[in-house]
Amino acid sequence: METRILGKALKVSAICLGCMGFSHAYGAPTDERETIRLIRRAFDLGYTFFDTAEVYGTSDDPHINEELVGKALAPIRDQVTIATKFGLRFDFASGKVPVPLIPDSMPGTIRKSVEVSLKRLHTDHIDLYFQHRIDPNVEPEAVADVIAGLIKEGKILHWGISEANEEYLRRANDVCPVTAVQNRYSMMARHYESLFPVLEELGVGLVAFSPMANGFLTGKYGKGQHFDPKNDYRAAMPQFTDEAVDQNTDLLKLLNTMAAEKNATPAQISLAWMLRKKPWIVPIPGTRKEERMRENAGAAQVKLSAADVQALDDALDNMEMSAVFGGHKSN
Ligand SMILES: NC(=O)c1ccc[n+]([C@@H]2O[C@H](COP(=O)([O-])OP(=O)(O)OC[C@H]3O[C@@H](n4cnc5c(N)ncnc54)[C@H](OP(=O)(O)O)[C@@H]3O)[C@@H](O)[C@H]2O)c1
Repeated sequence: METRILGKALKVSAICLGCMGFSHAYGAPTDERETIRLIRRAFDLGYTFFDTAEVYGTSDDPHINEELVGKALAPIRDQVTIATKFGLRFDFASGKVPVPLIPDSMPGTIRKSVEVSLKRLHTDHIDLYFQHRIDPNVEPEAVADVIAGLIKEGKILHWGISEANEEYLRRANDVCPVTAVQNRYSMMARHYESLFPVLEELGVGLVAFSPMANGFLTGKYGKGQHFDPKNDYRAAMPQFTDEAVDQNTDLLKLLNTMAAEKNATPAQISLAWMLRKKPWIVPIPGTRKEERMRENAGAAQVKLSAADVQALDDALDNMEMSAVFGGHKSN
């Protein structure tokens, strides 16, 4: 697969495999052996960049995703880039289902988190360590200072911030240069385009999460779709309601038309659109299915011209669309 550079020097596959869905948020977790097989298969298909987090798991096994990613990648550790995240923890005391996540980036918490993540990932270094969410109780300088120490110790090589805003990013970057932000970005959630000039100025990459609007942009989810509210967050996402499917008729038509023109699929168009916008954007689609991994990887080969991207943007700017999960800046 084509490679890209995040920040000054972090070389990654143009498409990252988002590993969250194997264990968290998209229904009951996949079986361990199958998850390991699929992650290794992704490597065979060209993915060399894998994303996980310490909180991708279930109430019974809150850190299972990091463990599985670690096991799967251990034999090829020196050929892959692993991103994981700190700064969120499960609020088991809330008694709510699904268990909510709350921010915690206290310096002591970060230091503890990195040690356990290294163990779970079977590695002596994390390639890219993201602060999962801004903690309103901890200044960006304090977080960046801990990270600078961890980089000096060789425990992490690069760092980033998820759902970063301009002020936080600039302040953190002044203390310890940031390699990438990991923000929500898709054809349905374009609010972070306003951050692009800042990313360009600072030389910071964008790892785009939920790049297919949690799967909606693939065009494979229609009316009457049922998601289990106990463990599948899509049950509460506004883009998957029957009304939303109607409101998104033009959007799906746009994707299907461009897909037919380019001999591609709607999923591939939604990813190729952002790949062609900037050379420093790396989408991070998640799937538990081998065929879809192959399909998503194929987006890197879809040829969209600048005029195609502009035509898509113009159409997106002017069309009716439903609400989408996380469609506004979260901080
Ligand atoms: N930093 C953060 O706060 C944050 C938040 C959310 C996610 N993330 C990261 O971003 C990654 C991706 O985000 P996401 O999973 O929320 O959204 P996404 O990649 O936009 O969508 C994933 C969903 O789409 C489906 N899907 C994937 N490829 C498909 C295809 N070709 N055709 C049809 N359906 C397809 C998947 O189902 P199947 O598994 O059934 O294929 C899954 O339900 C996660 O894995 C995680 O690593 C980060």
